[in-house]
Amino acid sequence: TGKFFVGGNWKCNGTKESITKLVSDLNSAKLEADVDVVVAPPFVYIEQVKNTLTDRIEISAQNSWVGKGGAFTGEISADQLNDIGCKWVILGHSERRHVIGEDDQFIGKKAAYALSQGLGVMACIGEKLEEREAGKTFDVCYQQLKAFAGKFLDAVPSWDNVVIAYEPVWAIGTGKVATPVQAQEVHVAVRDWLRKNVSAEVASKTRIIYGGSVNGGNSAELAKQEDIDGFLVGGASLKGPEFATIINSSA
Ligand code: 13P
Repeated sequence: TGKFFVGGNWKCNGTKESITKLVSDLNSAKLEADVDVVVAPPFVYIEQVKNTLTDRIEISAQNSWVGKGGAFTGEISADQLNDIGCKWVILGHSERRHVIGEDDQFIGKKAAYALSQGLGVMACIGEKLEEREAGKTFDVCYQQLKAFAGKFLDAVPSWDNVVIAYEPVWAIGTGKVATPVQAQEVHVAVRDWLRKNVSAEVASKTRIIYGGSVNGGNSAELAKQEDIDGFLVGGASLKGPEFATIINSSA
């Protein structure tokens, strides 16, 4: 599998002042060389972060529009993200699915367009607690992958710009992290799905990262699992030193 990958999803948090502090902490942190690191500030702070954060860390958006810009009030297009030097976008996040109501088809369309514009996509999947309890975890993940993959395969010949983030909904912002065994089991299933539905090569090189209550205390154990290729971190990515610990946890 590819290089370890750690994303920080800041969600709808921060002020000019708190972000100045976070950037300065990240700039002075010692980060392992062999890890891809990406942070996703709210849109309105991307420019500030881009102008002040070390080039060692790339910048992601947390969402993008389904297509080219135009008369779409309140939206931001992938073209505009490219224009300001933003390299990644998070799509299909649980909060966009379950709080804002985006469905698989809409998310797949966004992913296809973002990839066609050269952006990297962190493609998020994951089951709700009741789905896990009903034994539907794999089915839900496969369904969400299919919605992404159909579009990827239609639009883009290369999976190099795709990172899959497995984020069980019950683990997000709850302090209830998946156990290493629980996460590993789903990551293996995702990789098998890629092998069967895309190709052996894509299955072996695509990074599958885990998200949901990752912190400085639990990341090292998770990182030891064979199929956990990194993390997507929410709350703990707002604290520079702790985020650095997570970034370095595969070493
Ligand atoms: P927490 O790390 O706060 O649980 O959030 C995870 C997440 O949703 C990252 O995208």
